[in-house]
Amino acid sequence: MRICFRATMTFTKTATQIKKSALNELAKTRDINTLAFWRKEYLGKVGKFTKLTRQIAQLPAKERASAGKAVNELKQALAKALQEREKQFHELPPSPVSRSQLSTFFDLTAPGADFQLGHLHPITQMRQYAEDIFVRMGFEVFEAREVDDDYHNFESLNMPPQHPARDLWDTFWTEDELVLITHTSSMQHRILLGQKPPIRAIIVGRCFRHEATDASHEHTLNQIEGLYVDKGIKLPDLIGTFKKFLDEFSQRDIKMKIQPSHFPFVEPGIEFLLDCAICFGTGEVEGERCSTCGGSGWLELAGAGMVHPSVLAEAGLDPQKYSGFAWGFGLDRLVMVKYGIENIRHFYSGDLRFIRQF
Ligand code: DAH
Repeated sequence: MRICFRATMTFTKTATQIKKSALNELAKTRDINTLAFWRKEYLGKVGKFTKLTRQIAQLPAKERASAGKAVNELKQALAKALQEREKQFHELPPSPVSRSQLSTFFDLTAPGADFQLGHLHPITQMRQYAEDIFVRMGFEVFEAREVDDDYHNFESLNMPPQHPARDLWDTFWTEDELVLITHTSSMQHRILLGQKPPIRAIIVGRCFRHEATDASHEHTLNQIEGLYVDKGIKLPDLIGTFKKFLDEFSQRDIKMKIQPSHFPFVEPGIEFLLDCAICFGTGEVEGERCSTCGGSGWLELAGAGMVHPSVLAEAGLDPQKYSGFAWGFGLDRLVMVKYGIENIRHFYSGDLRFIRQF
């Protein structure tokens, strides 16, 4: 009898403890997910309530009825509290900051939200494409500094201070007399210095010019410089190499024109022009002057020539022994020709309707 009495006492005491901790824990649930854990812990197959119910069978027959009653009361109390808590969660307004709530209402069957994958800017894509071609042709790729000193941008390229040819470039100067590079030729001296030919390099970089912009001129342009120095290099090597690259890049036999030009760091100097992809070389679009090529039918693509002996000598290379060619072309213009883009300013316009076409 005493044992039975003790057993029932223990049983009801356990039921009370379970109720207390269950209600306590329930109040701490934050959402439907944590509620599911609670349900499992207390009402699940191996939950605390179920375990307690099983103990009834071990009680003396006489005590089972009152134990059963305690268990029923407990079950009802827990079920009611659970129901109320569930109701509270469903009534809560969906909060944008509650990740767990979001996941609670996540509808697996709903069609996915439409989002667009980004991609590299067309200029970057084309830069990599061009680099790839040059690497296959045996050139090494260098990157230009965007800010450099007077010596590298001008002096080492045969343009001492006060040289009038400096006016060819509308230069941005910083307050401490550095330049935003006007061309990737600014790296030539660094690459030539201390190297033993053959030297085959391309230099890619952004250049900056303080000029009025129009359909074919931008303040920021991407250049690819080529530099090839060895014994016995001649002008036809320059023309052949450049033409090979252009054909490979545009995947067609590209029409190009060569005309004499002047740059202080080459002798002789030439210019490569491509037929305008907008007016197809006619200079006119629907009876109007083509604004992309200014009506000439040609788009200036690159300055080039045979590296000036003084530039070689300045870098410690004997001009009697070595010769070389160099070019600097505007990648933006080449991409315009490849894709028939009529205005260079599209590239930095930030207009996604343009960018997404690539
Ligand atoms: N740096 C010149 C420019 O931006 C282009 C150029 C001309 C580059 C002749 C060269 C060269 O390497 O040899 O206008």
